[in-house]
Amino acid sequence: MAQFFDLHSHMLCGVDDGAKSPEEMFSMLEMAYEDGIRAICLTPHYSPYLFGDTTKTSEQSFAMLQKYVAEKHPDMRIFLGHELGYHRSALDALNEGTCRSMAGSRYVLVDFPESVEFFEVQSAMGSLQRAGYFPILAHTERYRCLFKQLGWIEDFVYNGGIVQLNAGSVNGDWGRGCAKQWKKLIRKGLVHIISTDGHNLTKRLPLMSVCMPYLQKHCDEQTVRDLTWENAWRVVRDERI
Ligand SMILES: [Fe+2]
Repeated sequence: MAQFFDLHSHMLCGVDDGAKSPEEMFSMLEMAYEDGIRAICLTPHYSPYLFGDTTKTSEQSFAMLQKYVAEKHPDMRIFLGHELGYHRSALDALNEGTCRSMAGSRYVLVDFPESVEFFEVQSAMGSLQRAGYFPILAHTERYRCLFKQLGWIEDFVYNGGIVQLNAGSVNGDWGRGCAKQWKKLIRKGLVHIISTDGHNLTKRLPLMSVCMPYLQKHCDEQTVRDLTWENAWRVVRDERI
């Protein structure tokens, strides 16, 4: 069975729009384990205007999950990060440590509203890179403003930017446009990491295997391994991809 690293997860409970209770968090963990996921970086939202300060609450929830994992699945590794909803004070939040990078590395998972304008993505990524961070653009397939900006995505990747896709989008979870963009980015070799962005047990599931039929058909074995396992390890180990 394939082993997966899920680098984008809202499994921590009581923090944001992810799991609502410890029971839901543990059930999500079991679902992920069953799917072959053996490493997870927990990435609660850091969007103060939407969810308040998630720094302390997520630490408590993470400690609870760590205890559960150590008892039930000692072969599972978990790490803590944040998903930064980019805003004007984002760099201050990172520099002050209220917003966490990925497991203390230089990598930062960054997201935007789906309707974000192209220049906002461009300028945010530039600011983060100039400040010495390695931005990971969360669910890159979802931004409409990038549907026709393949050239910019190529430049972003050339300059060290990291492209993350959500596993379920290939099957149309976010509509046909996103599925098309997902496949195009894979075919062009512009993707580094696939993750679940799992939020719950009903609609946004913590499952990686759902993208495997497409990947196995269109990518060689090493690429599949890099996208679903190796590159996420490079992130948490703070190694260059
Ligand atoms: Fe997310």
